[in-house]
Amino acid sequence: LIVVLDFGGQYNQLIARRIRDLGVYSELLPFNTPVERIRELKPRGIVFSGGPASVYSEDAPYLDQDIYDLGLPILGICYGMQLMSHQLQGKVEKASKREYGKSEIEFISSAKLVKDLDRKQVVWMSHGDYVAELPDGFVVDASTEHTPVAAMSNPEKNFYAVQFHPEVRHTVHGNEMIGNFIYNVCGCSGNWNMETFIENTVRKIREQIGRRKVLCALSGGVDSSVVATLVHKAIGDQLTCMFIDHGLLRKDESENVMETFVGKLGMKVVKIDARDRFLSKLKGVPDPELKRKIIGNEFIYCFQEESAKLGQFDFLAQGTLYTDIVESGTATTQTIKSHHNVGGLPKDINFELVEPLKTLFKDEVRKVGEECGLPPAIVWRQPFPGPGLAIRILGEVSEEKLHIIRESDAILREEIASAGLEREIWQYFTVMPNIKSVGVMGDERTYSHTIAIRAVTSIDGMTADWARMPWEVLEKVSVRIVNEVENVNRIVYDITSKPPATIEWE
Ligand code: XMP
Repeated sequence: LIVVLDFGGQYNQLIARRIRDLGVYSELLPFNTPVERIRELKPRGIVFSGGPASVYSEDAPYLDQDIYDLGLPILGICYGMQLMSHQLQGKVEKASKREYGKSEIEFISSAKLVKDLDRKQVVWMSHGDYVAELPDGFVVDASTEHTPVAAMSNPEKNFYAVQFHPEVRHTVHGNEMIGNFIYNVCGCSGNWNMETFIENTVRKIREQIGRRKVLCALSGGVDSSVVATLVHKAIGDQLTCMFIDHGLLRKDESENVMETFVGKLGMKVVKIDARDRFLSKLKGVPDPELKRKIIGNEFIYCFQEESAKLGQFDFLAQGTLYTDIVESGTATTQTIKSHHNVGGLPKDINFELVEPLKTLFKDEVRKVGEECGLPPAIVWRQPFPGPGLAIRILGEVSEEKLHIIRESDAILREEIASAGLEREIWQYFTVMPNIKSVGVMGDERTYSHTIAIRAVTSIDGMTADWARMPWEVLEKVSVRIVNEVENVNRIVYDITSKPPATIEWE
């Protein structure tokens, strides 16, 4: 284990990410985690992250001085380096100008972080303060034109620090530098992988649950699917999954979920057919926010009512991810978002939680899913919002509109799959803007619905760019939808990015 202490820098999750990619388990902890707790975790090394503060600002986050006496290797990054310097009696000063961007630096030959690398390195800088005087026992490992101490170390204590950000891709050999720290300084072996994660997790779930019973709300999305599979691996039929079909799912989705989890994986899944219930609640409601609220609330009521019918459960398994737990920002306290995967289950629910994915990033969850034998359609499923198709039909939802959106969406998905674009385009679906327009089919005038195609590329859905999809694919989709889906005579392509638009239309 390598502990990364979080001082609120925007790249901090990336540090843990990079270390895990190097085969060493790593966790991001708030900077004020008690030293005693860190000692208990028995890490091989500690990384101090970057952060927005200056060591001289009033509310600057400081570390308990005892951390320097744990006898553990430390790597300080940016603010982490300034803090180390400040707390060990070096001197930090404000630079006349903030240094931001790519910079070329030269290491001295014996610097451990660049073992097997060129001494000249391109790195990413982003700082306002700099180390002006070294603490006792430290040597300068690298400098640049603007930064006299771009890297420093105290080899005797195994303290290393860099002013730049090795975790961002712009630091060309940042990964290797982090690797040099965790392998050569901390002595980690790099054998953490998804297989060991699964073994350990299954064992832990067994210990936690014993002979008791677990309920899991399955949505068909990758997170809840992987949770259900892991828990099932651990305790078999002590797990019951509940799958609520709210009627706002895509074509064949409900059947596919049952086929996979019951048919292929042999799990106990109770399917609740709540289609009429949701549709009748949505009748006559055109307002997007109200639609979302109704669906969210109805989901909770439905879940509570139906789970009560299934008898007593001791645990609820949830697909909480690491990103849901780690609140970056100014980590002055450990804020845990009570994120709920399935439409937001109530906080006062009467279960203990099982959250086996809470240390994983999304792409690690996919790896676990693959390793557990889940089909690619689930492991690589594109994001699908809790309120489902209801927010892709502008205005009031009806059975007829749901049919049109389902069929057109299925055609779009088929064509994107056959063009081999599934992994390239992050999310794609059809939208019903609720407008009718005039057309001509054969010799007849038509007056029918318009369907919009939405396809975006993105990393995390926070920002997105409209996908430059090949014309030929768009053409095929357009022709097929108009020909195959009744009551549609016009197709448009959404060419707005996020911002200013959002990905979904409601
Ligand atoms: P927007 O439309 O805000 O969407 O750009 C960003 C991403 O979030 C998904 N989304 C949701 N996911 N519950 C969810 O689980 C929701 O209520 C919800 N609304 C939007 C959306 O599909 C996109 O991937």
